[in-house]
Amino acid sequence: MWNDRNPFLQGPYEPLYNEYVIDDLHVEGRIPLELNGVLYRTGGNQHFQPLDPSLFHWFDGDGMVHAFKLKDGKASYRNRLVETDGLKVERAAGRALYNGIYGHGGAPQPSIPEGAPKIKVVAGVNVIGLGKRLLALHEVGHHYWELNPITLETLGSFNFDGQTEGMLTAHPHFDATANEWLFYALDNEKKFLECFTTDVNGTVKTKHRVVMPFTPWNHDFTFTAQHYIFFFGLINWRPWSEDRIPKGKSSWFIDPQESRNAKILFVDRHSGETTWLHPEDSEYMLGHFLNAYQEGEDVIIDASVTPLCGELQDFKPENYYPFPLVEGPSAFEEPQLWRFVINRQKGVVEHQRIGDFSAEFVRPNEAIQGQKHRYGYMAAVHVPSPTTKGFNCLAKYDYRTARAQFQHVSSQYDLIPGEPVFVPHPEAKYEDHGWILSLWYDPVRNASELIILDASTFDGEPLARIKLDHHVPLGFHGNWVTI
Ligand SMILES: [Fe+2]
Repeated sequence: MWNDRNPFLQGPYEPLYNEYVIDDLHVEGRIPLELNGVLYRTGGNQHFQPLDPSLFHWFDGDGMVHAFKLKDGKASYRNRLVETDGLKVERAAGRALYNGIYGHGGAPQPSIPEGAPKIKVVAGVNVIGLGKRLLALHEVGHHYWELNPITLETLGSFNFDGQTEGMLTAHPHFDATANEWLFYALDNEKKFLECFTTDVNGTVKTKHRVVMPFTPWNHDFTFTAQHYIFFFGLINWRPWSEDRIPKGKSSWFIDPQESRNAKILFVDRHSGETTWLHPEDSEYMLGHFLNAYQEGEDVIIDASVTPLCGELQDFKPENYYPFPLVEGPSAFEEPQLWRFVINRQKGVVEHQRIGDFSAEFVRPNEAIQGQKHRYGYMAAVHVPSPTTKGFNCLAKYDYRTARAQFQHVSSQYDLIPGEPVFVPHPEAKYEDHGWILSLWYDPVRNASELIILDASTFDGEPLARIKLDHHVPLGFHGNWVTI
C-alpha cells in the first residue's frame, strides 16, 4: 500500500499485484447450464507507485481486465493489465512517470522519454466485444486496445481504420433493432463532437459532426430510434491541452463564467440535424444512462443523476467527482435514479426522482436499448448501516409497477456490489428472462466473488456464488460475450 490515507489505494480499491490463471473455481450453488460465455470486467489498477500517492484519483489507475469464463456449469478466471503505450514507457523506466488525467499531479509533469505519449491513457473504463474483437476502452484516447479474448494479451490498437478523429467514447451502445453500434468521438481542442455508427464488426457506416460551443467532460450518451442524446454538465475537460496535465492540473475544471445548468443535445441519427435544449434549474451531473425511447411526442430517458446541492455546490472535480475522498458512506448516496420526460419540439424538460435509494451503474436488458423498457438494474445504497462504505446492494426497478427489489446477498454485513450486467436467456421469452452477473467485494474475506442472480426473481437466493481468494478492485464496466 502506497498511501494509507488515500481510499483509492486501499481496501477494496487497492490495486491487485498479481495476474492469475485459475481453472475450475469454487462454486456455491449452481451455474445455469445455458450460461456459456465470458464476463469481462475492467477497472483501474495502478501498477507503479503514483508520483504523489496522496493525490491519486480512482480513474487514473492502469486498466486491468478480469475475465470469468462460464461453460457447462464450471467457471474459470484470469486477469491481465492492458499494456498501453504509457504503461510500456513506465515499465521501461521501472517506475511511474505520468501525472494523472482526472486527478491533479500537484506538480508539473516530469520529463518523459523522447517519443513517449504526452499523457498516459489507461484503458480502464470499459471492455466490449465488437464482432470477433475484444476491445478495452478509455474515453481520452484516439484508439481502443484489442485484446486476445482468451489470454487477455494486448494485441495492439483499434481505431476504425483511421476513419474517426477525437477522443473515442468508453460507452458505445448497440442498437439491436437497427443491428448497429453507436459511438461518438469528442475533440475539445478542435471543438467538435462526431457521432458515428458501425456495423456489428466495427466498419463505419455513418458519421455526423457537430461543432461544439464549449469543452465538456462527457462520459455517456443514450439513443432512441431517431436520436443520439447527450447531457452536458458543468465540468469542462481538456486532457490534450498544454495548459492542464503538463502543468500538474487535472484535465477537469469548472469555468465560473459558464452556466451550471445542463445542456442537452439531440443529434438526428439519419440527417445529423441538431437540437439544443437549455433547461433552467438543472444543476446536476448525469453519470450513466439506463435507456431512452420515444413515446408519442415525448422522449423518456432514465439515468443516474447527481444533483449539485449541499456540499456538492462548490466541488472540485479532481478531488470530488464522482465520489469525494471522505470517510463514510455519504459519497455513494449522492447519485439518484431519475426519469426525464422531454418534448424536444416544445423545448420542455421535466424530471422526477425514482425511488428513495441511491443508484449508479444503471443497466437495462440491452437487447431492447432504444425501445421501451420495463426494468432497470443498478448498484444502490439502500438501508445503509453506519459502516457502509460503498454501494450495499443491487436494485431492480420495475417502471410498470413502480416497485423496487433489492439484493443484499448477506443480512449479516454489507458486501459491495459492482455494476450488474444482464445476460438474456438464449431462448428469452420476456424482458427479465435471464441472469444478472455482478462482482461483489466481501470486506470480511478481503476477496471478491461473481454472483449470478435469476433476473426474474431478483431478490431471491443467488443461483451461484463463484468465489475468488483475492479481491478484484472496485472498478467500472463490463460486458458478457457469448461463446
Ligand atoms: Fe462509465
